[in-house]
Formats: sequence, C-alpha cells, structure tokens
Amino acid sequence: MTDSSESTESMLAQLPMENFWDIPLYQWQGLRYRSYHLQATMDLRSHFSARHDDIILASPMKTGTTWLKALCFSILNAAASGGDNRETLAKTDEDHRDPLVENHPAVYVQTLEVQVYTSNPLPNISSMKSPRLFHTHFPYTALPDSVKTTGCKLVYIARNPKDTLVSMWHFFNNLRTPQQGPYPFEKAFEMFINGVSHFGPFFDHVLQYWNQSLKAPNKVLFLKYEDLKGNPIKEVKKLASFMGKPFGDDKKVEDEIWQCSLERLKNLEVNKNGVDPWAGMHNSAYFRTGIVGDWKNMMSDEMSQRLDRITESKFKGSGLCFEI
Ligand code: A3P
Repeated sequence: MTDSSESTESMLAQLPMENFWDIPLYQWQGLRYRSYHLQATMDLRSHFSARHDDIILASPMKTGTTWLKALCFSILNAAASGGDNRETLAKTDEDHRDPLVENHPAVYVQTLEVQVYTSNPLPNISSMKSPRLFHTHFPYTALPDSVKTTGCKLVYIARNPKDTLVSMWHFFNNLRTPQQGPYPFEKAFEMFINGVSHFGPFFDHVLQYWNQSLKAPNKVLFLKYEDLKGNPIKEVKKLASFMGKPFGDDKKVEDEIWQCSLERLKNLEVNKNGVDPWAGMHNSAYFRTGIVGDWKNMMSDEMSQRLDRITESKFKGSGLCFEI
C-alpha cells in the first residue's frame, strides 16, 4: 500500500457512505465518489500538471460522454491529418483510415479517474503530444488547481436529468445477472433525486460547470446533449472553434457528425462485440437509443412532475434549463 492509498483508506473510514445499487459511494466535499475515484482525485490533485493547451472534457455519467469523446478526438485527428485543406474522404475510404473503427472512443480519450490515475498515482502522461485530450467525471471543485489556473480548456456536456437517469438505469442494469433482473426503477429514481449517484448530486455537478462557463466562457464550453441532437452542425462548429480547430465548410462538419453518429459507432464491430477492460462492460453498453425524451417510457406522471419540481428549484435563478 502506498502512503497516498493509506491516507485515502483512513479518510474513507471517516466519510458518510451510501449504497448506489450495490456500490458504496462516499460523500466528500458534498459529492459522491467510489473509493477508487476518490483515490484518483487525491493523486490527480497532487500530481497532475495541466498544460496551457490541454483540452479536458467533463460530464456527469450518461450525458453523452462517449459522443463528446468521439467528436473531440475526430476534430483533433482530422485537423492533424490535413487541417483546413483536408479532403473529404469517401465514406468507405474513411472507414479504413478512421481510428474509431479500431477502438471505442474511450481508448483515445481516457478518463482520468478510470483509466489514467487508477492504480497508478504517477502515470506517464508528460510524454503525450500536445494538445492532450482527457476526460473526467470529477466535479469542477475537485479539479486540480493547474486545470483552473492555466489556459487549458474544459468542454462540459450535460443532459436533461430525466433522460440521464433513465440512461443510467439501463447502463447499470448491464452489470446485473439475469437472475437479479433489472434494478427497481422506483429505487433508482429515489436515489437520483436524493443525489445518490456517481459524482452526484447531478444538479450540483451541472451547476458547478454551468456557473464556470458563465464566468469564463473562453475557458469552459457548456454543451447540452439535446442541442447537439437538435442542431449538430451549429454545435459541432462551436465545439471545433472552441478547441481552436474551426471547420472550413459545412460539408466537413457533416462528415464529422456522420463519423461520430450513434448509428455508425453502434454498428462498428468493435462496439458491437468489444469489451471495455476498465469498467468490465461490453462496449455496446455505451450505445443505446440516444433518444431525447426516452424517459417517457419509464417514468410515471407523478415521478415526472416530482423531478420537474426538483429540477426547477435546483436550477432556479441560474439561467439553465433543458429541453425534455
Ligand atoms: P441513451 O442511454 O439514452 O441511449 P455516456 O457516453 O455519457 O455514457 O452517455 C451514454 C448515452 O449517450 C446513451 O444514451 C447513448 O446511447 C448515447 N450515445 C452514445 N454515443 C452516442 C453518439 N455517438 N451520438 C449520440 N448519442 C450517443
């Protein structure tokens, strides 16, 4: 055991703990973490040194992280392999040259607390070429100071709480055996509204980044899943410009959108049959329906109204609202 893991162990013993499904979550500075996430937070805060040109993606769980990873990776990759002069490739040719065909987007954009800092307080990331692209589910308040004080950029993706919860319920059901069956949705609902979820309360997580994006719009770009679905050209152009890799014309934006679309990624062999070694999940678990309003298939009117009231009171005065 390292000194740092020993001190996290003793810290965990002092923290309030609640179970999310069968997973113990610890409350630290108002938000909830799995034990290994908390260890990774400590290591990240002690050792991660942001570069001025790092781009860090951030999100709560199940709000479109995989999509954002694919888009940002492709934007950087396309720019690196041709910049503004890159030719539009025929779709069949593109498949041969698109790394997303080989691996799930999480292989190219690694999550700091899941892939980079887990079991390794000192990962070798200083040799990575700039601009480095990482992802995290950490709340803004838990990020290392260097992320906040250097010029590095943050791109956050949020999603309406109802679809987030339903997506989460489907995702974690993948970890259950056929004998166990799906987790009771009513229990998952109560947990979510009470803030018991990974990095929850969801509302606090979203508000932290929302407020930062208002304070420093050149540093934090706040995207909504629903906007990306509704007007992908506008949102992807905004994203690419924010990343410093603006598109020359709309045809290239359309190609990028197609390349990273749910329909395409979901049907790639690697995502149909591959396994995510970090979470022990099938890659297919990350690609489902992507429907805005899918919550209607799960929630009673009473639940829907309750969640609306909570959302309204949490976001009141912030200027933040979601299409549901
Ligand atoms: P649903 O469960 O509603 O279908 P995350 O990547 O943060 O885990 O979020 C997963 C959600 O994003 C799932 O939503 C999934 O289907 C959707 N998703 C994954 N890849 C996507 C893509 N390329 N385009 C749109 N939605 C995508």
